[in-house]
Amino acid sequence: MTNATDSTRQPLAALGVASAEAVAERFAELRAAFDGEAAGASAGAESAKMLRDSWMGRKSGVLTLITDNWLKSAGPALRPAVGKCLNELRGHVEQRLEELQRAGEAAAENAAAARERVDLSLPGVTRPLGSRHLLRQTFADIERIFLSLGFAVVEGPEIETPYYNFEALNIPEHHPARDTMDTFYVDTPPGPISSKGAQRLLRTHTSPMQIHTMEKQPAPVRIIVPGKVYRRDNPDATHSYMFHQVEGLAVDTDITFCEFKGTVEYFVREFLGPKIKTRLRPSYFPFTEPSVEIDASCFVCGGSGCRLCKQSGWIELFGAGMVDPAVYGFVNYDAKQLSGYAFGLGVDRLSQLKYGIEDVQLFFQNDVRFLRQFP
Ligand code: PHE
Repeated sequence: MTNATDSTRQPLAALGVASAEAVAERFAELRAAFDGEAAGASAGAESAKMLRDSWMGRKSGVLTLITDNWLKSAGPALRPAVGKCLNELRGHVEQRLEELQRAGEAAAENAAAARERVDLSLPGVTRPLGSRHLLRQTFADIERIFLSLGFAVVEGPEIETPYYNFEALNIPEHHPARDTMDTFYVDTPPGPISSKGAQRLLRTHTSPMQIHTMEKQPAPVRIIVPGKVYRRDNPDATHSYMFHQVEGLAVDTDITFCEFKGTVEYFVREFLGPKIKTRLRPSYFPFTEPSVEIDASCFVCGGSGCRLCKQSGWIELFGAGMVDPAVYGFVNYDAKQLSGYAFGLGVDRLSQLKYGIEDVQLFFQNDVRFLRQFP
């Protein structure tokens, strides 16, 4: 307590205050004392409350002491002056305390806002974009080349019946060609599918889509079929139980072996480069006649012989041939009117060759150190 506030513990008479002027002086001192304390009070609810208690506390606050010690003991001559000054002082104290409290609240709010402020100019969280898998890039490459030649892209089911995967492709039940395509048979749930009595298997090649397409539409047909195929192969650097093919089929009234050869050569040059030469080597597929393997001149050594081409100068690319007329019989196409060719590109093998990837398993391991090399 200051001297001024201390004085409120005694009656005015004891302080020698006997005139209205002297009363006003005393109140002026009190007001100055209060203003000093209020100015020193730091912003915040705590110090505002302490100030309020010491001035307006019901029992021993300064205003109560004035009422008890000064007002009540004042004679009728001084009482109006004391009352008036007391009211003024109370009004001043209340107003100032309220200001302090509001300032305290505003400060707290500002502090909270500063703590929670979002700085929109800061860089955001970047999530690195991936890129297309190399196999997808190769699919896109192949599709682009054949789309430019007027082929359409179609896709088909990965679960087939033996009829579409084998029989209609001229591979009867006991044909040895089935041995090289041993595969996964799947159990079919009871119901409409199994009641047809047909087995189901994961397709061993995309060739069943030749049959589906010719069943659905009359000639001319020019399609490619990108997709997954399955075989019961043990994994090694060139084998995987699942791999990728792009089937091709063209059937029309006037397709010659020349058109077939020209198309294949065009594809190989577009895919591997303009200097690449192609060679057709006799082969065998039950659904093409004649059948060929397409070889490319080795793009590492240019044909002189190296490790990649095993010193032969040539690299085997994929199988193809003229559609065997027997196949037309399965789809009600007129074999006397129509002719065509088909091919089956191994997408994994073509990617391995083009990008020099020694192990096909790298495609399936999802190792970003590998994938990042093909952005
Ligand atoms: N379907 C054959 C295979 O997967 C490839 C092929 C397709 C051959 C079309 C000739 C014509 O081995």
